[in-house]
Amino acid sequence: MKTYKIAVLPGDGTGPEVVAEGVKVLQALESKMDSKFEFETYDFGGDRYLATGEVLPDSAVEELRSFHAIFLGAIGHPDVKPGILEKGILLRLRFELDQYINLRPVKLYPNVYTPVKDKGPEDIDFVVVRENCAGLYTGGGQIIKKGTPQEVAIQEMVYTRFDVDRCLRYAFDYTRRRNKKKTLTLCGKTNVLTFVYDLWERAFHEMGEKDYPDIKREYTHVDATTMWMVKNPEWFDVIVTGNMFGDIITDLGAMVQGGMGVAAGGNINPAGTSMFEPIGGSAPKYTGQNVINPLACICAAQMMLDHLREDKVAAILDQAIADFLASGALPGLGVSDIQKAGMSTSKIGDAIAQRAADMA
Ligand code: IPM
Ligand code: MN
Repeated sequence: MKTYKIAVLPGDGTGPEVVAEGVKVLQALESKMDSKFEFETYDFGGDRYLATGEVLPDSAVEELRSFHAIFLGAIGHPDVKPGILEKGILLRLRFELDQYINLRPVKLYPNVYTPVKDKGPEDIDFVVVRENCAGLYTGGGQIIKKGTPQEVAIQEMVYTRFDVDRCLRYAFDYTRRRNKKKTLTLCGKTNVLTFVYDLWERAFHEMGEKDYPDIKREYTHVDATTMWMVKNPEWFDVIVTGNMFGDIITDLGAMVQGGMGVAAGGNINPAGTSMFEPIGGSAPKYTGQNVINPLACICAAQMMLDHLREDKVAAILDQAIADFLASGALPGLGVSDIQKAGMSTSKIGDAIAQRAADMA
């Protein structure tokens, strides 16, 4: 029997509470799998940093490489200057573990409120594949004449053919495996960023023509992409884009699918250790109150199962989440909705774990 070694990084604020529900659901599914999970918890986050001055020891990065996957709660602490934990934990792991794909499903579950008028679950179901290690996040650039009226700031958008090709390869393969509209849309800005997105566009068509004749190719500029995401989300199947555009459009995607309460993401190294996380924050003011919605974290667990190619239980969990929401157990996904319904973080986890365990 196969054992998946999962590193659990609960992180800050309500991270530990939601991660516990994700783990609960995974454990409930074990009986339906030919494999089992072995969880190991690490305490990286704001509290540890404030106590020890250490964000992420080098040895930990090496240790994390030996896991099949990493399950992350939330990073962000009110007493820690913004940027320290994000850069020191999240971005560092993405870079050092070479998690060059950021996978973000934008799926509207039944009964979930979307601010997009007249659109339902049948219209909102696409996935963004964001390049996750390069582009504007590479860190190249400089400030010259700092503090003077002539100050110059340069931030470089750097892409190599290698970066672009491996991201496109993943996106084409993913579109094929997803097997829905079989359409991959490149989101770029070829009318202005005539170097970087020229490279993306050429690489996109070359690869598509040669290796993926079964996948339809589309192109949209990033500004138009945001427009279509709201106006005609049903047009999309899989969108592939660079790091910065991907960061922006996936927050829009999170809103389109009903908010941070259901939005999850995967930081993926197809040949290494990938990391799955709910993309909402650590919600520090609700820490320890058992009122925050764990659905996004449970969705992250679902993505992890899919990534591990545990197709059967991934589908079961997806259905359990959908059924739970369709049952009307929650009037909405916010803290006040959860309280109104007499629910709690742990009760939602119990309900989904139960549904998942009961499914054939
Ligand atoms: C995300 C986040 C991160 C990013 C931040 C926290 C560094 O916004 O995962 O989308 O910019 O990638
Ligand atoms: Mn972001």
